[in-house]
Amino acid sequence: MIARLVIFGGTGDLSGRYLLPGLAALRAAGRLDDGFGVVCADRKDRDAADFAGWVEAQLDRHAGEVPADARNAIIAAARFRRADIGDPGTVAAAVAGDGPVAVYLALPPALFPTAVQTLDQVGLPPGSTIVLEKPFGEDLTSAMELNRLLADLVPEEAVFRVDHFLAMTTVQNLLGSRLSNRVLEPIWNSAHIARIEIVWEETLTLEGRAGYYDQVGALEDMVQNHLLQLLCLIAMEPPITLSERDLRDRKVDVLRTLRPLTDAEIPRRTRRGRYTAGTIGARRVPSYIDEDGVDPRHRTETFAEIELTLDNWRWSGTRFVLRSGKALAADRKEVAVHFRPVPYLPFGRYGSAQPNVLRFGLDPETMTLALTAIGGDGESLVPLTLSAQTQPPELPAYGRLLLDVLNGNPALSLRGDEAEEAWRVVDPVISAWSRDLVPLDEYPAGSAGPGPRVSEADPDGDPAERP
Ligand code: BG6
Repeated sequence: MIARLVIFGGTGDLSGRYLLPGLAALRAAGRLDDGFGVVCADRKDRDAADFAGWVEAQLDRHAGEVPADARNAIIAAARFRRADIGDPGTVAAAVAGDGPVAVYLALPPALFPTAVQTLDQVGLPPGSTIVLEKPFGEDLTSAMELNRLLADLVPEEAVFRVDHFLAMTTVQNLLGSRLSNRVLEPIWNSAHIARIEIVWEETLTLEGRAGYYDQVGALEDMVQNHLLQLLCLIAMEPPITLSERDLRDRKVDVLRTLRPLTDAEIPRRTRRGRYTAGTIGARRVPSYIDEDGVDPRHRTETFAEIELTLDNWRWSGTRFVLRSGKALAADRKEVAVHFRPVPYLPFGRYGSAQPNVLRFGLDPETMTLALTAIGGDGESLVPLTLSAQTQPPELPAYGRLLLDVLNGNPALSLRGDEAEEAWRVVDPVISAWSRDLVPLDEYPAGSAGPGPRVSEADPDGDPAERP
C-alpha cells in the first residue's frame, strides 16, 4: 500500500469536503497504515496552526459521524506545503519523501496539462500513482493530448481517472444485481426493455462552485462522465472477472457502440435548461445567472438530457435517456428500467397491466419492481410494487476510491480510451448546443425542470411504454 498522498489543491473544496473525510473513514475502518501521511499542497501559504484548524473544521463538518480518534489521526497525519503547480521547485518539495507517492490533482481541469508536465519534469518515485478528477479534458482532442502527457509520466495502470459514482455501492449493485440473478439476464435486452432512464436530479444548487461549474455545465459535469459510466454498467456484456482489464474492456465496448447523435437528431434527442429564481422547500434560490461568480455570457446549462441508442444485437431498439439537473423540486437519483408491455392480456374489461419497471435507487439505497397482480375481487388487475432497501455502504465513495488508489487498483477508474470514447459521444452535442441548435430553456428553481422530457416528446417512441 502507498503510504503517502499529496493533494494539489489540498486546501480546496474537494479536499475538505470529500478527500480528508474519506481518509478519516478509512482510518476508522482500520484500512490506513499507521505511518500514513498526507500533504495538502496549495498556492496560498498557511501556517501550521491555521492549517490544522482548517482540517479539524472540515472533518467536523463533513465527517462528523467518524469517531474522534480517527479524525484526530488524520489531523496529525496532515501537513501543509506551499506549492504552485507550474513551479517545479515547489512541486518537487511537495512530493519529496521515501517510497512511492499518490498524487491527487484536486485542481481545476484546465490546470491538468500543466500539472502533468511539471510532475514529469520533477519525476516521481517508481510505483507512484496519479489521480485526476473529471472532466478529463474538455473534448476528444484535449483528452487525447492529456493521455499523451500522462503516458510520459507513469504507466497507464498508475493513472486513476476517478469517477466517484463507480465507488458507490448502489452503482456497484447495478452489476451485482444484473449478474447474480437468474431472472434478470435473460430479459436484459431490447426484446424486453423499451427504455432505460439514468437520472440524477438534485435539489442542490450551485453551492458556491461557480469557479468550476460555470465553465462546464450539467452535460460535462454529470452526463459525459457519471451518467455514461452508469450506462456502461447497465449495458455492458458480462465481464469474465471484475479485474481492471476485463471490466474496462467491456465498458469501452459500450462506449464504442453508442451512436453519436447527428445535427438533425440533436434538437429532438437532447434538451438543456438553466434555473431561474424560485423556492425549493422553504429555501429561496436566486436565478443561476445571479449566483456569485457566474458569467451569463457562458450560457451554462444547469439541466441536461440526452437520448442515446446502441448499435448492437442486444440493444438495438432500446432508448437510453440520461438526465441530470440542479435546483429541482425533488431528489431523484436512479436507474429506471422500463420493460415492454406483455404481448397479450386475457383479462378483457378487467383492466390493463402497468408496464413493469425495475428501479435501482442510487441515493438512498433502494430497489423497487413495479408489477401487476390480481386485486381482491379476484378478477381485476391492480398495480403491485415490491420494494427493498439495499445494504448501506461501509465506506463513503471517496473512502473507497482513495483505498483503491493507495492499493494501486485502477478497476474503478477510467482507462485512457474510455475517457476519449466518452467525449466522442458528447462532443457533437456540445458543438450543436454552442451553435444554438437547441434552445437554452429556463425553469424556476424548485420545479420539475423544463418540459416536456425527451422520452415523452419522442415522436418515434412507443406510446405503450411511456410513463
Ligand atoms: C459531482 C458533481 O461530481 O457529483 C456535482 O460535480 C454533483 O455537481 C455531485 O452534485 C453528485 O454526487 P454526490 O455524491 O456529491 O451526491
